[in-house]
Amino acid sequence: MKVAVLGAAGGIGQPLSLILKTQLPAGSCLSLYDVAPFTPGVAKDLSHIPTDVCVDGYTGDDGLTKALEGADVVVIPAGVARKPGMTRDDLFNVNAGIIANLVKNCAKTCPKACICIITNPVNSTVPIAAEVLKAEGVYDAHRLFGISALDVLRSETFLGEELGLSKAYTQVPVIGGHSGTTILPLLSKVVGSEVISEERIDALTKRIQNAGTEVVEAKAGAGSATLSMAAAGARFALKVVRGLLGEPGVTEYGYVEGGSKYGQFFAQRIEFGTEGWKRVIDFGTISAYEQKCLDDLQSVLAGNIKKGVEFGQKWIAENK
Ligand code: LMR
Repeated sequence: MKVAVLGAAGGIGQPLSLILKTQLPAGSCLSLYDVAPFTPGVAKDLSHIPTDVCVDGYTGDDGLTKALEGADVVVIPAGVARKPGMTRDDLFNVNAGIIANLVKNCAKTCPKACICIITNPVNSTVPIAAEVLKAEGVYDAHRLFGISALDVLRSETFLGEELGLSKAYTQVPVIGGHSGTTILPLLSKVVGSEVISEERIDALTKRIQNAGTEVVEAKAGAGSATLSMAAAGARFALKVVRGLLGEPGVTEYGYVEGGSKYGQFFAQRIEFGTEGWKRVIDFGTISAYEQKCLDDLQSVLAGNIKKGVEFGQKWIAENK
């Protein structure tokens, strides 16, 4: 397996690359790309860790092509992060063009790769990527993912704390999207959550929805979640790799196109396979509170998707 990380020298990219270096299967290769000129140095640094995963680092336009050659999986944390007072959508103007350009390079150099996008606003950057891949004639919805798994990690942590459970064994479905009220944790699906009052469920749901902002405010201008996002990105990418290698039954929540009546793109539980994600797993019955949240989030999510699609189409026309 060759895994390329685009934006590898940044706040998310470095810890993400570290986890991948230590956890990818033996014989894999890690390919780091960033506009930062010290990216080969990040690769050199990681290369001293004794695992059987080779690491190369690249920068510059030629470097991007080299980083992507033969990639099976591409993880993209590149882009700018929020500052206090900003929403993820406020990053759109800068990050939309970054994603379009990087994904166009993926389409040309590694058209069959599974592309996993961390760059915000994920609700819109994934539809942008889909438009660019379609224009290049290589779009396969089963190979394009938005990483929303940090919402799952946070839900596991917060609900585990609430119920006094081991966080390692707490599993919480989180559907919808990766921004504000589009993030919908299905706390009712967790055994034991029935003892939690309606008020606490509402407070926990809102905390999960605002958890990214909690980090942005705590970092006081120095950016957003990097370490927990790296953990989420690595957890997701490693599962994509396990699926590609043929391991059965590997699942995670991811933001993908298809399989949902609630949104053209929707975060949902997917099972990975040798060709990307192979099926969506239905979330079943939910509580009345969750149903109301699900009803409300659909128009917001549809607006985010439309914004991404429109930008993608305009960018393609301007960058032929
Ligand atoms: C997060 O959820 O922490 C990330 O999407 C970064 C952000 O801006 O909130």
